[in-house]
Amino acid sequence: MNHFLDQFMFVALPYVCLFTFFLMTIYRYQMQSFSYSSLSSQFLENKHHFWAVVPFHYGILVVAAGHFIAFLIPRTILLWNAHPLRLYVLEVSALAFGLLTLVGLIGIVVRRFSNTKIRYVTTYTDWILFAMLMLQTISGVGVALFHPWGSSWFASNLSPYLWSIVILNPDISFVVALPFLVKFHIVLAFLTIGFFPFTRLVHVLVIPNPYLWRKPQVVRWYGRR
Ligand code: HEM
Repeated sequence: MNHFLDQFMFVALPYVCLFTFFLMTIYRYQMQSFSYSSLSSQFLENKHHFWAVVPFHYGILVVAAGHFIAFLIPRTILLWNAHPLRLYVLEVSALAFGLLTLVGLIGIVVRRFSNTKIRYVTTYTDWILFAMLMLQTISGVGVALFHPWGSSWFASNLSPYLWSIVILNPDISFVVALPFLVKFHIVLAFLTIGFFPFTRLVHVLVIPNPYLWRKPQVVRWYGRR
């Protein structure tokens, strides 16, 4: 029974989620490209907004980049960690950015809940997404606290597992013996990837990079003030 459950959670579910992600992000981009955004609510409320959205983004971008780098160059991470001081620096920095993400996310949820105007423009999908991101961040911080040295065991176990998924030759032997909290964090990550195209998270794929090099533009308003 356990074997069947592991196969379902670490082979079938990841492929279903990844398939949904690729198919639906492309479909939504073609069919409703104007909805491809995280519609800003800054003009409805601006004070609390800064202290929630900004720390959240600094936190999540660093944490996400860290996961991606460990996935791409696991051996280099293991070499870096071979020296205990460097391992501590990496672990403490990762935890600090994880906590920053959590503080920002709590701010985002409290702001959306406590301000009537913002609550009005928050959809059911937003609430489900915030709940998923909250559980993902709490479980991530929990993993860092209760199962330390994640930067090393991610490189030795999770990176090979994720690569086995990418090359369509899934090998779950790397993950079956991991503690419950880590398994929960992996499964919720795949579920979030599957849910991604249906949410405001699609804005991650449409960063307005041309703003960095396009010519400045002057906007003039004619007519009555
Ligand atoms: C790739 C770089 C990213 C950029 C440039 C970016 C930009 C933005 C912008 C402009 C907003 C709207 C803020 C407003 O209300 O004015 C926003 C909101 C949001 N972003 Fe990002 N984002 C990025 C990455 C991410 C990532 C990786 C995540 C999470 C996995 C994320 C999650 C969110 C969420 C949940 C909101 C809604 C917050 C709210 O309005 O309550 N973003 N982002």
